Amino acid sequence: MSEKTDITMEKIVSLSKRRGFIFPGSEIYGGLAGTYDYGPLGSLLKENIKQSWLNKFVHSRTDMYFVDAAILMNPKTWEATGHVDHFSDPMVECEKCNKRFREDQLEDKEICESCGGKLGSVKQFNMMLQTKVGAVEDSASTTYLRPETAQGMFVNYKNIVDTMAPKLPFGMAQIGKAFRNEITPRDFIFRVREFEQMEIEYFVNPAEWEKYFEYWKDEMIEWMGAIGLDMSRVHDVEVGDDDRAHYSSRTIDFEFEYPFGQKELYGLAYRGDYDLTKHADYSKTKLQYTDQTTNETFVPHVIEPSMGMDRTILAVLLSAYREDVVGDEPRVYLDFKPNMAPYKIAVSPLMKNKPELVEAAQRVFGQLKSKFGNVVWDDNGNVGKRYRRQDEIGTPFCVVIDYETLDDQAVTVRDRNTTDQERIAIDDLENYFVEKLS
Ligand code: GAP
Repeated sequence: MSEKTDITMEKIVSLSKRRGFIFPGSEIYGGLAGTYDYGPLGSLLKENIKQSWLNKFVHSRTDMYFVDAAILMNPKTWEATGHVDHFSDPMVECEKCNKRFREDQLEDKEICESCGGKLGSVKQFNMMLQTKVGAVEDSASTTYLRPETAQGMFVNYKNIVDTMAPKLPFGMAQIGKAFRNEITPRDFIFRVREFEQMEIEYFVNPAEWEKYFEYWKDEMIEWMGAIGLDMSRVHDVEVGDDDRAHYSSRTIDFEFEYPFGQKELYGLAYRGDYDLTKHADYSKTKLQYTDQTTNETFVPHVIEPSMGMDRTILAVLLSAYREDVVGDEPRVYLDFKPNMAPYKIAVSPLMKNKPELVEAAQRVFGQLKSKFGNVVWDDNGNVGKRYRRQDEIGTPFCVVIDYETLDDQAVTVRDRNTTDQERIAIDDLENYFVEKLS
């Protein structure tokens, strides 16, 4: 029944809008290119992804320090890291319609794909979004919205060493917004100008970087499985010398087969001592580690697993999207793992105008909500319509209270994937769902 389908981006974009996952940013004003707003369902999905990431990479470990650094940073940060000079994409402009393109993404590098005009010469376009800080607008007040969360961790390296007395290897972890003035934002939430990153900077003894690079590769793969990514569509690709970021001497990209091609999902980079050395140099601050047993002092090297939230959401949606036929009716459902489902259970009375059913259903709803949290009340339309709606938002189970319930104190539980229904006693519901949702 649950066949995988040829998924188009149109189907995902339309479902995301129709069911309250993702809306175009500032839509009533005609939108703002490269921005999207997460609706109630999308926000819950995001929270589930964050929770899963935190559980795996922070809460279940003893060597990880979770931080929440400011988006606005002293602009010297970005001079030190080379972002001011190097964080750019090659751009060409059409001489006729003035549209701008990323040169490395063009098939025809001579002719404008929009109007057929001639494309001009390649220029480097810095992707950092500038802003002004303070009441006086001079060059000294210019700073940037951070293009990666990473630097908020590197500039706090000394604070962590001084306050937490960590033993090497240890990591810093952060989830937060990053901004890039992408020349051509495209493919829905794949390439946007405002996005969220979940990043780890893992500090190691330089002699051990290769071991920890492999370790983090495995950790990332394990997590992708845990959030329900279709691993047959995930590929790890060694990034060549010419394509690596300026700070990295080894990078693996995890690529995902999206409907628009196989493209980057996450990155795993060996950043060496690049960032700490640069910041030490520019800030005149010692950024080192002293091993208490050997007394050796050195600059740790860094392994960086970097995961984009928005691409995660896209890959989770694409991995979960299913179409099948139930009876004669085609249907769409999202085969989320229970830990990703925005709502775990939907509860409804068979008919919403029968007070005795509503009352019994509300009791069951209250009981399940206090135990499982994200349980939704749904009495819109008839039961068939409710099932379709809950299928489309990936709710694993629907519970319906009917007239029999009043006699036998049991309810109908319907499974999203199989559409099978079974009668479960109200007293057994909690245990039933603990097992099913684990
Ligand atoms: N600190 C390293 C770093 O920022 P990156 O490969 O440039 O490396 C890391 O970005 C991740 O951030 C990417 O793998 C992707 O998931 C996400 N990402 C980067 N640019 C993005 C954009 N314009 N829109 C959405 N996600 C983006």
